[in-house]
Amino acid sequence: MASVALGGSAVHLANGSGAACVNCSTLRSSRALASSQRSFRGIPLAAGGGRSSTGGAKEHSSSSSSSRTRAQAQAVDSWPSPSAASTEPETVQLGRSEVYVPRLGVGSWSWGDAFFWHEGGWDDRKAKEAKAAFEASVDSGLPFFDTAEVYGQKWGGGDDSETLLGRFIKERQKAKPTESTKVVVATKFAALPWRFGRGSVVSAVKSSLQRLGISQIDLYQLHWPGLWGNDAFVDGLADAVELGLVKAVGVSNYKEQRLRDAYTQLKKRGVILASNQVHYSLVYRNPEQNGVKKACDELGVSLIAYSPLGQGVLTGKYSRTKLPSGARGKTYNEQFMTELEPLMTRMKEIGQLHGGKTPTQVSLNWLLAQGNVIPIPGAKSASQAQEFAGALGWSLSGSEVEELRSIAKNVKPVMGFPAELI
Ligand SMILES: NC(=O)c1ccc[n+]([C@@H]2O[C@H](COP(=O)([O-])OP(=O)(O)OC[C@H]3O[C@@H](n4cnc5c(N)ncnc54)[C@H](OP(=O)(O)O)[C@@H]3O)[C@@H](O)[C@H]2O)c1
Repeated sequence: MASVALGGSAVHLANGSGAACVNCSTLRSSRALASSQRSFRGIPLAAGGGRSSTGGAKEHSSSSSSSRTRAQAQAVDSWPSPSAASTEPETVQLGRSEVYVPRLGVGSWSWGDAFFWHEGGWDDRKAKEAKAAFEASVDSGLPFFDTAEVYGQKWGGGDDSETLLGRFIKERQKAKPTESTKVVVATKFAALPWRFGRGSVVSAVKSSLQRLGISQIDLYQLHWPGLWGNDAFVDGLADAVELGLVKAVGVSNYKEQRLRDAYTQLKKRGVILASNQVHYSLVYRNPEQNGVKKACDELGVSLIAYSPLGQGVLTGKYSRTKLPSGARGKTYNEQFMTELEPLMTRMKEIGQLHGGKTPTQVSLNWLLAQGNVIPIPGAKSASQAQEFAGALGWSLSGSEVEELRSIAKNVKPVMGFPAELI
């Protein structure tokens, strides 16, 4: 599934050997797979279908006997259905790219963060909890992590989120050298005002690869549109694909027209725009109203939903008398939490009807019900990550989905990230 094998077996599969090796490099798997395998989840790749040195990488060791070509597979009108592999996590295709991901990813913004998520600062105990969140995510069938070059602050007493993720991957490889589970890594380029030109994207990718300790990133995203230079940044994404540094590319916080323009620009370079990562949850449904969701569906671009738990307020642990601490408490204030009460009450009732699902699981399942959405809830601990996994394997009914949307309309949404508008 991914370019980073936790153990050695993916590499050995590619080499045709079943033997495991200790400390197989994370760097070798996707390249080895790319050069030695020409099928993709059991679907033979169309001749000449690869577009780069990474183009033929096999994502999955599924033994499906389907003989559809990739081109045929991409031509289907409906959204790809999750794979039914019994031992691998349920996966979906990331847009129309060659990357397959679990239906839910896990966000790592809080890992190494010393301010927004951890007002008391970052310390060893929090690092251990972040590591436990990583381990529990992988163990629960969610080995897909979203990070960014700007997450975490080494300079502020924290740590780089990318560095932490890379370390967790390596430590798990060392502890479980024969494990075949592969981690999918998504990270992002920060379009800071002093960055110019397509070369800045390529050099940022190389720095991220170094921090992560891997040779190829599964999904590389432009974190937000810059004040200027965006066409060059999109070209930089295509350059990174051509150089084999990244497997798939995406954008984030892109409004509809920007999304369409980026899609077209990449298409001219023969590169698929795989995803647009935007703020989307029951209490922030802007993508449904601003054309982004519709455009993603139309173009075959996955919508990756960030802050899918409303930064924690949809989990049920906060209330008008127990506001989240720090900056979150100012956004999700008493008025917001009061307006949220009927929604939380109904989510709890509906969760009970589904065998005791929690509000966290109902929130994530609601997003999954929209189709073409991959939520990436942030996990600070093992128990939070384990709870995410319970959002899979069942479905809200159509009427429950609509009822929750309708109740959620009474909650005034918080202000979105201004980059969505530019
Ligand atoms: N592209 C962008 O511009 C952008 C922007 C924002 C986020 N993101 C990405 O999206 C990811 C997720 O978004 P987010 O972290 O902003 O918000 P979120 O996923 O809506 O909320 C995450 C927070 O909710 C709480 N929580 C999570 N699971 C819980 C559980 N089972 N029970 C109780 N509380 C739980 C935790 O905080 P507490 O325990 O402290 O309450 C956790 O940090 C980020 O990590 C990042 O990767 C991207």
